[in-house]
Amino acid sequence: MDEILINGGNRLLGEVRVSGAKNSALPILASTILSGGECVITNLPRVVDVLTMGKLLGILGTKVSHEGNRAVIQAAAIHSTEAPYDLVKTMRASVLVLGPLVARFGEAKVSLPGGCAIGSRPVNLHLAGLAKLGAEISIEHGYITAKANRLRGARIYCDTPTVTGTENLMMAASLADGVTMIENAAKEPEIVDLAQFLVKRGARIHGAGTDVITIEGVSQLHGGDHDVIPDRIEAGTYLAAGAMTRGEVTVTHCHPRHLEAVLMKLREAGADVQEEKDLVRLAMPGILKGTDVKTLPFPGFPTDMQAQMVALMSLADGTSVITETVFESRFMHVEELRRMGADIRVEGNRLVVTGRKALTGAPVMASDLRASAGLIVAGLAGEGLTQVQRVYHLDRGYERLEEKLRALGADIQRRSMTTQVH
Ligand code: UD1
Repeated sequence: MDEILINGGNRLLGEVRVSGAKNSALPILASTILSGGECVITNLPRVVDVLTMGKLLGILGTKVSHEGNRAVIQAAAIHSTEAPYDLVKTMRASVLVLGPLVARFGEAKVSLPGGCAIGSRPVNLHLAGLAKLGAEISIEHGYITAKANRLRGARIYCDTPTVTGTENLMMAASLADGVTMIENAAKEPEIVDLAQFLVKRGARIHGAGTDVITIEGVSQLHGGDHDVIPDRIEAGTYLAAGAMTRGEVTVTHCHPRHLEAVLMKLREAGADVQEEKDLVRLAMPGILKGTDVKTLPFPGFPTDMQAQMVALMSLADGTSVITETVFESRFMHVEELRRMGADIRVEGNRLVVTGRKALTGAPVMASDLRASAGLIVAGLAGEGLTQVQRVYHLDRGYERLEEKLRALGADIQRRSMTTQVH
């Protein structure tokens, strides 16, 4: 198992290019199942989750040729409609194949994702929506089975806006008979990206990016090309790292309008943030100020940036209250940040963070993807050596993280524990 070693304290200076969005790439790859035509996807991030989705598509019988940031996919000869436990347990987003499989082949069997470090993450809304579309759903032996001769359009109301749930239903409804309306849909940019790809392939979708999405089902889709949008969470992570180290960082190839809530909070914290068409410049001219943050569905502050913001507030002047409203127990990074000297009190779904003058490097353990990003950001600003263990979480979603941070002047490297043993 690898670990990341950071000698904190260097100001981050320079430009960093953002990769494609993992959370866009995953549904886009899953959606290739909806037709037999060739799909060419570019700006795919080289991260483990994307490779896992490629592997899952391969198991189903899809032809995937993946090179660098481009993949050519053809789902003409699918021979299985089952997503096995061994894969789903490593990546919950595997559930994204459920909608496309049942819509095109009339059946799907997908392992029910288990518990996870950020609390209970049910898929009940995915299943209730598919049932509304006419699928017969059952759960047996740890697997979800969905069956339908042909899905039919329906009006679906989501109790909570769910990102992958909206994506699953949008994909399924694209091949249903008649019109589907998804109400209280999630509005994340990744949903708009998926909708645009589906529309290029013949789907009829309106309203993606608003809370009501209307889908007029068509009898078949064709192949198509698509360039994945930039990763707004990766961009936000580099900006937080820039602010935390009092650096000057320019994040390029991003969409600033996808980052508005994050940029607003960084400004409140004292950063000078300039937006241009596809880049954001950040500098920290004065003191880092405490600021309150509440995570919310898009366009609110993203839960995937919460850990990085907590790290930042640990060094800010004053007290900040960070409220997590999207996931129930997404605070695994708190104990680890305390080991670095952070003063954080947990009150239900709120964190009260009292800024300290300094954090000190320490061995810390990553527990999930974004918690790891928070620890990295803290380590970059901490005094002395931070060793982040269990970095496979980071590898699921950040492309060439150490290389990109090193280019900004960070003293960071990966130590392969396997190499050490031999
Ligand atoms: C996606 C993102 C993840 C991000 C999250 C919230 C992907 C691959 N992952 O996850 O990075 O942190 O959105 O922005 O895109 N819920 C239910 N029932 C359901 C589905 C969800 O109650 O059937 C609840 C969840 O427990 C949570 C809330 O809805 O409290 C939002 O979750 P959801 O948007 O579904 O998250 P994911 O799509 O899993």
